[in-house]
Amino acid sequence: MTLAAQLLNWYCQSARELPWRKDKDAYKIWVSEIMLQQTRVEAVKDYYTRWIKRFPTTAVLAEASEQEVLNYWQGLGYYSRARNLLAGVREVCAAYGGKVPDDQAAIQSLPGVGEYTAGAIASIAYNRPVPAIDGNVLRIFSRLFCLAGDITKQATKQEVKRLVCTHMPIQYPGDFNQALMDLGAMVCIPGRPRCEICPVANLCEAYVREVQDTLPVRPTKKVPLLVRLAAGLVCKEGSYLVHQRPATGMLARMWEFPTVELAEDEGAVERLQAGLAQDFRQDVRVGESAFHYIHTFSHRKWDISFYQCEWLAGDKLPTAACWAHKSTPNL
Ligand code: ADE
Repeated sequence: MTLAAQLLNWYCQSARELPWRKDKDAYKIWVSEIMLQQTRVEAVKDYYTRWIKRFPTTAVLAEASEQEVLNYWQGLGYYSRARNLLAGVREVCAAYGGKVPDDQAAIQSLPGVGEYTAGAIASIAYNRPVPAIDGNVLRIFSRLFCLAGDITKQATKQEVKRLVCTHMPIQYPGDFNQALMDLGAMVCIPGRPRCEICPVANLCEAYVREVQDTLPVRPTKKVPLLVRLAAGLVCKEGSYLVHQRPATGMLARMWEFPTVELAEDEGAVERLQAGLAQDFRQDVRVGESAFHYIHTFSHRKWDISFYQCEWLAGDKLPTAACWAHKSTPNL
């Protein structure tokens, strides 16, 4: 049997039951694919279901406010995904009568939609014979064909794309791509793959040569850069000082407590006090460190200490800041 036939048979029996697999509505598949970028399937399920209840069609989503959309995304992270999805859906309503276009190039021209996502939507929703190549597929094919090239290099990715296209079953591209997603999630996993239950082990060159644990080939990983931050919890008459981050860069336009970056060996208390005076025109006494939090992004590790601050006096706040109360809407 061919690679595709073996994979499709396996998928028929073992496909995961996922809420976005209940129908082939291109909008719903689009939502799921955007949520699944950088986020685990288990974490996405409930968000997806809640989202589709509130925004069941492109028309409903297009009418929603950005703030409401962000509220429904809250907790998934990488919020530009939600903003782009909203912008893309509005474009679909304006330019295509609310129906997601059915070819990959048109889908890919929508904001926030890259080649992988466009391929997934076109193949799953419209049965277009196009690949959807993500890290899982790169890993699977690097093992199946024992690819020696660095998987992060364009030439290796092109080779994988050629191989996927060669093996794509013309009648079932959506199922083929989803079978690869499931194989990558459950069987051909990073590190030590579960070859004993793999439906295509008999066709896998890496398995035959017993080198599956060493593939894919990658460059050595960079350690995320440690950034020390101090944030002030400044309370005035029951409201807290908050600041909206710039429109570009990390966590664009998200709200945060006033935060300063600390140079090596710089004292948090003095720096925070100076930052609040300079950037926010507020005179505060920085007190106890209330708590400490570490968050690792792909390329940065934030080490944030939060300080209780006593507000003493202050001028008008800059436009990107305000006093927020628990009841302040839309923050
Ligand atoms: N990961 C990305 N897209 C997926 C999908 N459609 N099903 C399961 N896992 C996925």
